[in-house]
Amino acid sequence: MAKINDNYLKLKAGYLFPEIGRRVREFAAANPDAKVIRLGIGDVTRPLAPAVLKAFHAAVDDLATTDQFAGYGPEQGYDWLINAIIEKSYKPLGVELKTEEMFISDGSKCDCANILDIFALDNVVAIGDPVYPVYNDTNVMIGRTGEANDKGYYENIVYMPCNEANNFIPALPTQKVDIIYLCFPNNPTGTVASKAELKKWVDYANANDAVIFFDAAYEAFITNPDIPHSIYEIEGAKKCAIEFRSFSKTAGFTGVRCGLVVVPEEVMGTMASGEKYSFNKLWLRRTTTKFNGASYPVQRAAAAVYSDEGWKQTKEIIDYYMENARIIREGLTEAGVTIFGGVDAPYIWLKTPGGMSSWDFFDKLLNECNVVGTPGSGFGPSGEGYFRLSAFGHRENVIEAVERIKKNLK
Ligand code: MLT
Repeated sequence: MAKINDNYLKLKAGYLFPEIGRRVREFAAANPDAKVIRLGIGDVTRPLAPAVLKAFHAAVDDLATTDQFAGYGPEQGYDWLINAIIEKSYKPLGVELKTEEMFISDGSKCDCANILDIFALDNVVAIGDPVYPVYNDTNVMIGRTGEANDKGYYENIVYMPCNEANNFIPALPTQKVDIIYLCFPNNPTGTVASKAELKKWVDYANANDAVIFFDAAYEAFITNPDIPHSIYEIEGAKKCAIEFRSFSKTAGFTGVRCGLVVVPEEVMGTMASGEKYSFNKLWLRRTTTKFNGASYPVQRAAAAVYSDEGWKQTKEIIDYYMENARIIREGLTEAGVTIFGGVDAPYIWLKTPGGMSSWDFFDKLLNECNVVGTPGSGFGPSGEGYFRLSAFGHRENVIEAVERIKKNLK
């Protein structure tokens, strides 16, 4: 009989968001009249920007013609999209990238998981706690870890607690690690890291021959001009960092699917022989073998984000969500709740009132306010006692949810 990948059995529970979905469906079935407001998973609600939609339609029409028809594209993405991103999104930051250093994909979640393919299993990995669960679970699935302990920490992963005491920015590991996951603006805490803070990580990585996986999926939500949008704004980062970006939240592509990875040519690892080898070459090899590229219409739609019109319209959508974030932040602060994030990120991280557990607060909000959020403990043990609200809802729902919570907590 074929053997299963036993590593999957080490995973403690179902993936967080389906589990929340299950509980909400159960509640809705039992309470059909309840008007449930979902501010749990960070899923966008605004329609695509008109310029993006127009390009999307036009690209679908291309497929109806013999002249413009597009079959297989380059596995790593079309140059016209890559170059538009480099010009409009990286150059203004003072970051120069080569076309060959960027890879377009069907989303950042897959990229964060797939990147593990090109790293040896005996690398020591450090991840934050709380953290986007994909970083943790994919390391378990691929077989890098042992079992989880009672706390939920897996053997062979170095966890870096993020809490109020360290402003939700982890301390440098005290032991040598080879791979470090950093996510700023952070999911789930909504907090950000300054250039000086990121410089410490880049220096650590370069001094220890480590690689940083920098998840910048939420960079477009930064409002403070001093906060870096890319790890490559930090001197030395091109030698040690791989950056992930996503169109999901930035341009409303959660259902459309498009992301990108930057693997600078200078990022090196060692072969078993001890010689150096470029991760860029490995990622290209992996991409061309295991992927056939994001679809042509999706890439055309993504490229339209970088047109003058598309850029302006996309920014307006981001501002809409950040206004939601402000409404949540200010409303809950008024209700006496301690909150973090929500200024440079679309997530508000709050301390559960009265020291309730994260899941108890989830149940309370669902049952008493009919509002869905995400329990902090679902992002790791250090998330216990916290709760995440997403700013991606419809404005009227966000206002109503805040009013319901305020009333409930009075
Ligand atoms: C979240 O809510 O944390 C995100 O939507 C998850 C994701 O981007 O996959």
